[in-house]
Amino acid sequence: MDRIVVRGGGPLNGSITVSGAKNACLTLMPATLLSEEPLTLTNAPRLSDIRTMTTLLESLGAEISTMQDGKVLAMSSHDADNPVADYDIVRKMRASNLVLGPLLARHGHAVVSLPGGCAIGARPMDLHISALEAMGAKIELKDGYLHAKATGGLKGAQIHLEFASVGATENTVMAATLAKGTTVLSNAAREPEIVDLVECLRRMGAQIDGEGSGTITIQGVDRLHGATHPVVADRIETGTYMLAPAIAGGTIELIGGRMGLLGAFCEKLDACGLEVVETPKGLRVSRRNGRVDAVNVVTEVFPGFPTDLQAQMMAVMCTANGVSVLEERIFENRFMHAPELIRMGAQIDVQGGTATVTGVDRLKGAQVMATDLRASVSLILAALAAEGETVVNRVYHLDRGYERVEDKLSACGADIERVSDHD
Ligand code: EPZ
Repeated sequence: MDRIVVRGGGPLNGSITVSGAKNACLTLMPATLLSEEPLTLTNAPRLSDIRTMTTLLESLGAEISTMQDGKVLAMSSHDADNPVADYDIVRKMRASNLVLGPLLARHGHAVVSLPGGCAIGARPMDLHISALEAMGAKIELKDGYLHAKATGGLKGAQIHLEFASVGATENTVMAATLAKGTTVLSNAAREPEIVDLVECLRRMGAQIDGEGSGTITIQGVDRLHGATHPVVADRIETGTYMLAPAIAGGTIELIGGRMGLLGAFCEKLDACGLEVVETPKGLRVSRRNGRVDAVNVVTEVFPGFPTDLQAQMMAVMCTANGVSVLEERIFENRFMHAPELIRMGAQIDVQGGTATVTGVDRLKGAQVMATDLRASVSLILAALAAEGETVVNRVYHLDRGYERVEDKLSACGADIERVSDHD
């Protein structure tokens, strides 16, 4: 298994090109099942999660060819006739559940393994199920699989999500594009990845309004045609690298970064002493003074502070001036990076969904363990200015969501390298 070795050092200076958004690409790819015609995605990120989704869609009968070193995904579901998403693939990645709505819309039935929980939480699918049942689907759980049937096809419905779930919104919107009649989805998630999905579906001929607001209206059509769509920039990757100068100092320009994708996150950066300037190519970030100031964070649905940036912000708060309180309101177990940061000398007290961080002068390098995607990258951030060497093990978590993090950071002057066990 690979590991990443970081030797803490001085300020970082340079630019990082932001890749296409993993969480947009993972919902755009299943949309190929909604049409017999080719759907091509450009600006796709080269990540293991994308390869997992490719394997899943191919098992359903889609044909996917990757071009331009993986940045272009040319997909055709013309002959996709298998409605069964197998546990062996689904268990590897929870986002596999995003084939449920498209399969149901395409075949009138679907058998999708429940993805099961993951490190950060139980990750149930009750909101996905109740939304699709409101559209006439009959869904039952048998042997760990959801068996869904919509004889006569799905019907438009008025649906209210109890919680603005990203995945439930995506499954429902995709299913509704081919339903008979109109679906109005209220308390829909507003994340930029959903806006990007709707823009792609509209290119395919879907009739959808309201994306990015709390209510999305979908007028079902008989069929969708092919399209080519560029994957939106990854706001979580952008936010992650914006925090590198917060910890290590210096100035980094995020090429392709867009302020509008970051919601409340940018206000927090300003509050803790980071200067963010929009440039013709993206966003330039630097610290106003020597060290950032502690700020409090509460994770919320978009446009609130993203839960996917909570671990990274905690790493920054470990060497901030003062005490910060971070409250995780989206997932039930998303502080697994805390014990690892404590091994590096951080002062963190976790009580349930709240972590209190008291800033220290400097962290110390250590052997640490990555437990999930965002926890892994928070350890790398912490290591950038730590004293000595940090070894982050189990970086396969990292490769799920970050393209060659060591290349992007070393191009800005970080002393970071990937070491393979067989090296
Ligand atoms: C998406 O997951 C993202 N993944 C997650 O990113 C992100 O953290 C999350 O949205 C929140 O922004 C992808 O887009 C592939 P949710 P999703 O449904 O759709 C509960 C990363 O690091 N819930 O909005 O699964 C759920 O348990 C990943 O890139 C139900 O209770 O998130 C959680 O507590 C991690 N019932 C909360 O809602 C349901 O039916 C948010 O889940 C569905 C969700």
